Amino acid sequence: MKTFFIILLIVLTFQNNFSQQIFSPDGKLELNIKLSNQNELLYNLSRDGKSVIKDSKLGIDLVDQPDFLQGFKIDTIITSTYYDKWAPVWGEVDSILNNYNQLQVTLNQPKENRKIIVTFRLFNDGLGFRYEFPVQDNLKYFRIAEENSNFALTGNHKTFWIPGDYDSQEYTYTTSLLSEIDASKGKNFDDIIVKSLPGKDIVQTPLMMKTTDSLYINIHEAALLNYPAMYIKVDRNNFNLSTQLCPDAFGTKAYMQTPCKTPWRTVIVSDKAEDILASKMILNLNEPTKYQDVSWIKPQKFIGIWWGMHVGKDTWNYADINNVKLDEVDWNSLKPNGKHGATTENTKRYIDFAAKHGIDAVLVEGWNIGWEDWFGNWKEEVFDFVTPYPDFDVNELERYAKEKNVKLIMHHETSASATNYERRLDEAFNFMKEHGYNSVKTGYVGKIIPRGEHHDSQWMINHYTRVVEKAAKYHISVDSHESVRLTGLHRTYPNWLAAEAARGNEFNAWSKGNPPEHETILPFTRFMGGPMDYTPGIFQIKMDYYNPGNTHQVHTTLAKQLALYVTIYSPIQMAADLPENYERFPDAFSFIEQVPVDWSDTKILKAEPGDYIVIARKDKNSDNWFIGAITDEESRSFEIPLGFLDKANYEITVYQDAQDADWKNNPMAYNIEKYNVQKNDLLKLKLAPGGGTAVILKPIK
Ligand code: NOJ
Ligand code: CA
Repeated sequence: MKTFFIILLIVLTFQNNFSQQIFSPDGKLELNIKLSNQNELLYNLSRDGKSVIKDSKLGIDLVDQPDFLQGFKIDTIITSTYYDKWAPVWGEVDSILNNYNQLQVTLNQPKENRKIIVTFRLFNDGLGFRYEFPVQDNLKYFRIAEENSNFALTGNHKTFWIPGDYDSQEYTYTTSLLSEIDASKGKNFDDIIVKSLPGKDIVQTPLMMKTTDSLYINIHEAALLNYPAMYIKVDRNNFNLSTQLCPDAFGTKAYMQTPCKTPWRTVIVSDKAEDILASKMILNLNEPTKYQDVSWIKPQKFIGIWWGMHVGKDTWNYADINNVKLDEVDWNSLKPNGKHGATTENTKRYIDFAAKHGIDAVLVEGWNIGWEDWFGNWKEEVFDFVTPYPDFDVNELERYAKEKNVKLIMHHETSASATNYERRLDEAFNFMKEHGYNSVKTGYVGKIIPRGEHHDSQWMINHYTRVVEKAAKYHISVDSHESVRLTGLHRTYPNWLAAEAARGNEFNAWSKGNPPEHETILPFTRFMGGPMDYTPGIFQIKMDYYNPGNTHQVHTTLAKQLALYVTIYSPIQMAADLPENYERFPDAFSFIEQVPVDWSDTKILKAEPGDYIVIARKDKNSDNWFIGAITDEESRSFEIPLGFLDKANYEITVYQDAQDADWKNNPMAYNIEKYNVQKNDLLKLKLAPGGGTAVILKPIK
């Protein structure tokens, strides 16, 4: 399809009391902008004539300089239309339509003799807007005290929220009215180790809301570059939302130099929950990749020396010592603790398992020195990323993995010492390349160094980007944990395969865990910005299997763990349980063996945040379709018309909860059925409380 970009209208030198509008390409959404009596910039958004966002102010507060809040005069307005189709390197679909109408307003502040541009893009699925600061005599360097983008909502909407924490998104969601939000509390609130909570009324994005007349509204951001992450301040009486940025060590929000721009602020809106999940607007607002060659970027499934540590069976550390100074320890003379997971022998066992079951890669955590006291000391030099423990033979494992045609995934836990990591990055990536690694899982557990910075402050946003850009030079892909939540930057940096940046499955191993509804909310929140390394596939649901009396458990059935491979989208998916647990259930594991991580098509069949999700996806490399259906704590039945299939006849394999399965009392009971279906059949699914169904459809002649 041809790309086109048409400028429809140029209007010069406006008087005040003007108002200007654009519509989405399908005519459903309408955006209006105007100036208030104080000459502030206001916008409003409606859908099918119904208000979504009432008149709301836009502007920026500066430090030590007059603000960009009022006293505006319209200089120019340019409207245009854009239409393009593009192919992502990997993704949920193989072709993405990027179609919007744009309104770009240049505002003058005659008193200051300064200019600011606000660009609005209206898609069929929502609105994006951003501020731009062109080169000009009276604005060169400036600091942002706060961004004042407002979203005046039409009522007390139902909201799926987590606290606006500068250092963590690892919370479970609370569903409440806007008026009831209290970000100093929440479910499973005490599980979070590092908390930086600015206020009761501050929540994270993506913020998902539902109005009383069933309009779904999602607020987030796109293309977060050289700027802090944004939170939402909720006026709990008037239902006005406003932006609040993550501060740096001095309390400053952002340091800017013209020409520059902010990330896009996004409002995705539909009367169908399914449309929210299908939206590609955030990706479309990101720039195409500048990488010339992307052939080295590979979606992948992996297993890892990982869950053993989370369930307390293995350790990351080699010896039981503390107060470690990296250079001063003679590692060879230390007595091992006998529980070290990352040994050569154990890694070979994982490589063998991966080779046998067609799993692409093996992650090894705890392979490098430093884990003896890695966390909580605010210590700068924790890991050097190039020195293996004495029982991890990096050369032999390189050879062995190559022989078995399995990739090894490097682990770089930084202990949040980002300065240390940056200093050592070239050496660390060179070491990876020398030993055949092409993917890295990074991690930022703890308080950030540079001290006083936050996981979401501008310095760290730039850090994550620097790591991904440098990794690309080495043809390395990144899966970042405890990094900022994603904003569609994987369009620009397709080697940023996934981030964690939310509460993953790991919490089920050692805390109150994730309630059964958690995975039905995540796609409407965290996943709006991009893939998450959620680590599905835990078969041994209850932790008393490892330690009698341990009451922790995964809050799903086993069948739901399979369905997550379809309902959760990521080009890098872990089969997170221990190989020995998969060997106990080979028939269920066959689903994980077969499920792809790259798709040519996706149909969001049924969805309601907090309740259920049913998604069908087509494999990018075959004609096979896969369906994942998940529910919250309620048992549910679905009737799925199979009309979306592209062939007439299929063999279907259904991995489902047993009749008496239940996430709490009988989570591991499942059965598998195989039969033939046709395109016009109705597929009936029955999900247990906390359950799920996973389906494979293979065309037959
Ligand atoms: C937290 C990560 O989410 C987890 O996957 C990892 O095992 C630990 N940090 C240690 O790096
Ligand atoms: Ca984590």
